[in-house]
Amino acid sequence: MSRIAYVNGRYLPWREAAVHIEDRGYQFSDGVYEVCEVRGGRLIDERLHLARLERSLSELRIAMPMSLKALGIVMREVIRRNRVGDGIIYLQITRGVARRDHAFPAAGTMPSVVVTARNLDLAGNERIAAEGVAVVTVPDNRWERVDIKSVSLLPNVLAKQAAREAGAKEAWFVDRKGFVTEGSSTNAWIVTREGEVVTRPVDNGILRGITRTVLIEVIKAQGLTFKERAFTAEEAYGAREAFITSASMIVMPVVRIDGRPIGNGAPGLLATALRRDFHRHAESA
Ligand code: PDD
Repeated sequence: MSRIAYVNGRYLPWREAAVHIEDRGYQFSDGVYEVCEVRGGRLIDERLHLARLERSLSELRIAMPMSLKALGIVMREVIRRNRVGDGIIYLQITRGVARRDHAFPAAGTMPSVVVTARNLDLAGNERIAAEGVAVVTVPDNRWERVDIKSVSLLPNVLAKQAAREAGAKEAWFVDRKGFVTEGSSTNAWIVTREGEVVTRPVDNGILRGITRTVLIEVIKAQGLTFKERAFTAEEAYGAREAFITSASMIVMPVVRIDGRPIGNGAPGLLATALRRDFHRHAESA
C-alpha cells in the first residue's frame, strides 16, 4: 500500500513528500516532534501528547502553526489515509524555511509541519515483551534541556547504535553522579527487592514521558508502592525487575543490563502486569 504524508498543508504520496533544503529542521535541528500511539485506529493520550508539543514549541519560541483541533483532524486523516490500525503517528514542527542564519528568521516565517503514520507489528512486539530486552548503559552527554522533545537527537542516535552493536535494544544514559537518567528513546524504571516501583523525577534531566505519566496513575490505582527518585546502574543490576516505557513500546520488560541478568533473568511479573493493564487507563479517541 502506498504511504501518504502530510507536509505543510498537503497530503502527498511518499515519494513526493519532502521539505526544503533550507528548512531549519534540516539545517539546525531547529524543531520539535511527538510520537503518539495508535491503537484500533484511535489516538492514545492525544491530549497529553499535544500539551507536551505545545510546551516544547513554547520553550523554543516556535509559533504553533495551527490550532490543536486542526492538528487533531490532520492526524486522524493521516491515520485514515495510511490505514493505520495499531501503530504510531509521528509529528514534526520546525521553525520553517529561511536563508541559513543561526538567529531566528523574520517574524511571520511559517513553521513546517510534517505528519506521518505507520503500522507496528503488534504480535511481534508482544513476542519481544514475552522475552524481555537487554539494555546497556552509556554516559549521558546531552544538553540540559532534554525536557524539550526536540529533534536534536545525536547523543540518542549514538547511544541507540551503541546498544544495537552490543546486542541490546536500548541504552540507558547515566549522569555524572552515576544515576540513570533515561533511555535513548524511553523512560527507565526498576522494581526494588522490596517491591517499590521507582523512576527518576522529572526535572530537566529527562523527558516527561506520556507513557510514564499515565503509568504512574496505573501504579497508584493498583495500590503499588511508587517512589520518584533517582537510582544508580548498580542499584538496577540488583533490582527485582526493570523496564522501559514509551509510546511505541508501552511497558517493555528489561531482563539484562550491561550483560547482568535482572531478577531471575525473565520478564518481571509487575512489568508484565502493567503492560497488560496500561490501556485500561490511557485515553483513546
Ligand atoms: N520517544 N525519553 C526519551 C528520550 C524519548 O525520546 C521518549 C519517547 C521517552 C518516552 O516518552 P513517551 O512515553 O511520551 O513516548 C522518554 C519516542 C517514542 C521516539 O523518539 O520515538
